[in-house]
Amino acid sequence: MFKIELDEKVKKIEEVLKGYLPREEGLQETVMKAVNYSVLCGGKRLRPLFLAECNVLCGGAGLLDPLVCAFAAALEMIHTYSLVHDDLPAIDNDKYRRGQLTTHAKYGEAMGILTGDALLNLAFETVSGALEKEEDAKRLSCGARAIRMLSGKSGIYGMIGGQVVDVERTGSPLTGRELDFIYRLKTGALLEAAMVTGGILANCSTAAEKSLAECAAAVGMAFQIQDDILDVTSSLNVLGKPVHSDEKNQKTTYITLYSIEEAKREVSRLSQVAVEAIDRLPGDKTFLTELILSLINREK
Ligand code: IPE
Ligand code: IPE
Ligand code: MG
Ligand code: MG
Ligand code: MG
Repeated sequence: MFKIELDEKVKKIEEVLKGYLPREEGLQETVMKAVNYSVLCGGKRLRPLFLAECNVLCGGAGLLDPLVCAFAAALEMIHTYSLVHDDLPAIDNDKYRRGQLTTHAKYGEAMGILTGDALLNLAFETVSGALEKEEDAKRLSCGARAIRMLSGKSGIYGMIGGQVVDVERTGSPLTGRELDFIYRLKTGALLEAAMVTGGILANCSTAAEKSLAECAAAVGMAFQIQDDILDVTSSLNVLGKPVHSDEKNQKTTYITLYSIEEAKREVSRLSQVAVEAIDRLPGDKTFLTELILSLINREK
């Protein structure tokens, strides 16, 4: 039942996403092709899913609201850009992502850099374009706050900040606290942007925003720990990206600091914390709860 509902929702998100992608034309068509290639090749679509679900939980119309659609698509574009750049030779130097060649492996390094840049711009073209069509003052101010959230969580105090420390400290031992800092930013920040933006676009209360942020922080940490586990326990075929990438890059991960069993226990514990955080909110949390719990045993 959950799986069917999940597949339907992901399908809907992909339809929305396609609506914002560029036509492959003009002298610069290579970058459009690379943008579409990077975005459309699969991926779990978790961030737009969380955004739309949290919007509904807070009383919004979810993907029936054009503003929510634009933000959901923009977030997936930003996430995809973060992956395209993460895979570059200068960062993790990985050749496979989402079951196919990484963008730089297929289109070359320069085009990999430009494709990431293009996706980041396209994200803000998408949300500002949607906001331009709004007239209601309340929706405009919620939209402005949502842009602030999206840009902030993607930037130097969010995802980029985490990637910077991840890259800079590669090869050197890290304490658990330092690792938590990196994970909270490089992975947690975009998940927080997803959930909190969903709430903001539904004009949620400050208390609700706080619960969503708490939930996202726990989901983010659990998600990255599970990513570390899969890097050592999975296979390229199942995962869609190379395994042992962390070892290759001499990364300190959760698995270098703790045992796999401890890491698994922490993923379960954090997922429970996440579920409890949204439990405080009124509304139907069934799907969101199942989604969070399903990530404990995810295989990709
Ligand atoms: C991968 O994110 C990068 C991390 C933050 C660990 P996802 O596992 O959500 O990647 P896709 O979008 O499903 O490919
Ligand atoms: C990446 O962390 C997080 C990003 C912000 C892209 P990883 O480097 O562990 O992600 P994967 O394993 O390549 O997806
Ligand atoms: Mg990385
Ligand atoms: Mg990587
Ligand atoms: Mg990883």
